[in-house]
Amino acid sequence: MGIGTDAIHGGQSPDKETGAISVPIYQTSTYKQDAIGQHRGYEYARTHNPTRAAWERCLAVLEKADEAVAFSSGLATTSAILKNLKAGDHVVAGNNMYGGTYRLFEQIYRRLGLEFDYVDTSDLDALREAMRPATRMVFVETPTNPLMNVSDIAAVADLTHDQGAFLVVDNTFLTPFFQSPLELGADVVMHSTTKYLGGHADVVGGIAASRNAEILERLRFVQNAEGAVPGPQDCFLALRGVKTLAVRMPRHEENARKVVEFLQSQNKVKRVFYPGLETHSGYEISRRQTRGAGGMVSFDLESFGAAQEFAKRVRVFTLAESLGGIESLLCHPSSMTHAAVPKEERERIGFTDSLLRLSVGIEDADDLVEDLRQALA
Ligand SMILES: Cc1ncc(COP(=O)(O)O)c(C=O)c1O
Repeated sequence: MGIGTDAIHGGQSPDKETGAISVPIYQTSTYKQDAIGQHRGYEYARTHNPTRAAWERCLAVLEKADEAVAFSSGLATTSAILKNLKAGDHVVAGNNMYGGTYRLFEQIYRRLGLEFDYVDTSDLDALREAMRPATRMVFVETPTNPLMNVSDIAAVADLTHDQGAFLVVDNTFLTPFFQSPLELGADVVMHSTTKYLGGHADVVGGIAASRNAEILERLRFVQNAEGAVPGPQDCFLALRGVKTLAVRMPRHEENARKVVEFLQSQNKVKRVFYPGLETHSGYEISRRQTRGAGGMVSFDLESFGAAQEFAKRVRVFTLAESLGGIESLLCHPSSMTHAAVPKEERERIGFTDSLLRLSVGIEDADDLVEDLRQALA
């Protein structure tokens, strides 16, 4: 089936009892057992919930995985993935990724005995050099947040496997509509459902998918043992949101390309970061391993002051954290999504205070461009 069909029907069928087309919100904490030791596959809602199970089956179909495991947020998902490791294990991660992921690694898991090194994972030599005998996991965002660097997933997977480690790809920015990391050799693909999968800025969630039975078993165990589960209402919203993924994503990209074209024509814009640009260093890899460049665009203005003024003036774009919803958002990463990353770390990779990030929504492109024009003026 094509992704448009799978997004609507994947892992779902009309309710057996009533024929309800939409998977119902099973708002229950527990289930009747028919006799001691005899239940119908459902005992307690932290462990099992039919709405959650439908969402997990749907995402597994979309990511071409054996199974998916849902959590209460993207970060809860990353945290569960890290529970495949033990103290003393080493992780190599991208040096430009969502600030909350960096904070989770540095301020929680380092204290618990995991070791982390950060490199530009688009540079395979740098990645090879960062590997140690104790390296058990490589964590990659591609494209990265917010610099839009692209890593070659297949090559990174080979290097990772040579080391006896497993590769995790955060696919939040591109979604399975544009990129299929498991097909390229990644062992785990994860998402902040909060973003494009949910798609409507009305739910927080996360999900991981894999074909590796051992990793899946551990994720399922952590889901139940720790309990960072999404509620049935949130799973319903994720299921409903993802149904239109194949309609929304091309429009996000179409609008992003028009926004990029406009930004590039402006003197006040110093640099535009978008992997769909032929001048982007990851353009060729991006063309090879994705089906599109997505709806996220970053750009640099002349100064922090200019970025501040710009942010005050936008009318259709809204200054807000998050991304991937139908409405266009503007973010100042160094003070918002990446405030947890030390300034020196940011500056080392060319991530300035004058950098702005756009999550280009699905409004009319002309209105978006006009808004940027008047804010720049
Ligand atoms: C690429 C990426 N991964 C993970 C996360 C974390 O997801 P959540 O906010 O749902 O915990 C975010 C949040 O912005 C993100 O942008």
